[in-house]
Amino acid sequence: MAPDNRTAVCPGTFDPVTYGHLDVIGRASAMYDRVIVGVVNLPWRKGKTLFTAEERIGFVSNATAEMANVTVEPFSTLLVEFARARGAMAIVKGLRAISDFEYELEMNQLNRRQNPDIESVYLMASPKYSFLRSSGVKELATFGGEIHDLVPDEVADQLKERLGR
Ligand code: PNS
Repeated sequence: MAPDNRTAVCPGTFDPVTYGHLDVIGRASAMYDRVIVGVVNLPWRKGKTLFTAEERIGFVSNATAEMANVTVEPFSTLLVEFARARGAMAIVKGLRAISDFEYELEMNQLNRRQNPDIESVYLMASPKYSFLRSSGVKELATFGGEIHDLVPDEVADQLKERLGR
């Protein structure tokens, strides 16, 4: 498919999706005509995920149901290959802190080497989500912390069911 500057991919593992991810997806959906959320579906990558790809896709799909130009699908190829196959010219990611910057700079250079035609675009995290990451939410859920303001209700309920003590 020919690259299209109106289409963007928002990639991630989303284990599980948080309001921080949804903030970035929502802002991307206002910037591009079409946003494809790419959910990593590689069971062996970075260890096992808590939720299956189907569950993670379901959470993102439900949470973005009101965003008419957003679709959600799994991918298990190189990210730039997924973006190219969908005709996207941009990969949109959120950036929270210096620690994200180092990782994203590395990913950016790897991705650029693979396909220099696809640009990565970084949206600064909204201040209220700048501390938020999926692993932190899982830790809070494990020890009975309050997570309803960090993830959608169905995600919070599932986290409590899986991890709550
Ligand atoms: O931090 P995340 O959510 O686990 O990020 C996932 C992803 C795919 C966005 C990140 O690892 C990345 O940019 N990877 C580039 C290299 C690549 O294509 N890996 C294959 C993933 S299926």
